[in-house]
Amino acid sequence: MFKKTKPLIIANWKMNPETEQEAKTIASDIKEGIKNIKGINTVICPPVIFIDSVKKTLGKTILLGAQDAFVGNGSSHTGEISLEMIKKTGAKYILVGHSERRETEDTEEEIREKVSGVLKSGLKAVLCIGENERSEHGDYYHEVKIQIISALTGLQKKYTKNLVIAYEPVWAIGNKDNTALNSESLYEMAIFIKKILNDIFGQEIAKNIPILYGGSVNKNNAKELMENGKVNGLLIGRESLKVQNFIEIIKKIKA
Ligand code: PGA
Repeated sequence: MFKKTKPLIIANWKMNPETEQEAKTIASDIKEGIKNIKGINTVICPPVIFIDSVKKTLGKTILLGAQDAFVGNGSSHTGEISLEMIKKTGAKYILVGHSERRETEDTEEEIREKVSGVLKSGLKAVLCIGENERSEHGDYYHEVKIQIISALTGLQKKYTKNLVIAYEPVWAIGNKDNTALNSESLYEMAIFIKKILNDIFGQEIAKNIPILYGGSVNKNNAKELMENGKVNGLLIGRESLKVQNFIEIIKKIKA
């Protein structure tokens, strides 16, 4: 059911850092720190305004992603950045439906349109899902199921090869104690997600869709989450901006 793949580590910089110079420095330090580590796909998603200079700093070894994209038609959309524009920067991944966007911006319907728009454009869509809370009753399973079904219903099978699922329990994202979900519960959720993907697309396709974990990943829990949680990679917020910690996470996963 779980296919072992090259780990995919995605850095979500959110609205950080403040300046282009800082972005370049962080990117160049990360590049230097992981230059001898092979066999891991690292992707950095900076604010769009920094993508170009971060890309120039990184060269080809580390891939770029965007944190969102506009998928509609036409150009009269003040403040938006189109998929085509993002594609031209060289970014290969787009986060879709991150919980911070679900809170204020993206509806389930928009998320469905974004997933399909991104995949049809040939870019990789990282669909973010995850429950708000974990109650004893287990209703979080239902919450996650609805999010997946709603985002992927109607998606043609031929577009699934660039689909990535990032399971990020919202309560674990950015939390003060930096406490992630434990790896046993992650494994259970990963099985559940695979089962839903099986139901929608069939086993052959479902087994190839990578599942990532995100939410308070740090250098102490990263390896265990990946190994015992049986996920294909991690989506990392705060710790991806702390260069030494991020490098250590990648080194530990490789070790
Ligand atoms: P965090 O954020 O690693 O800071 O908890 C993860 C995310 O928002 O993707």
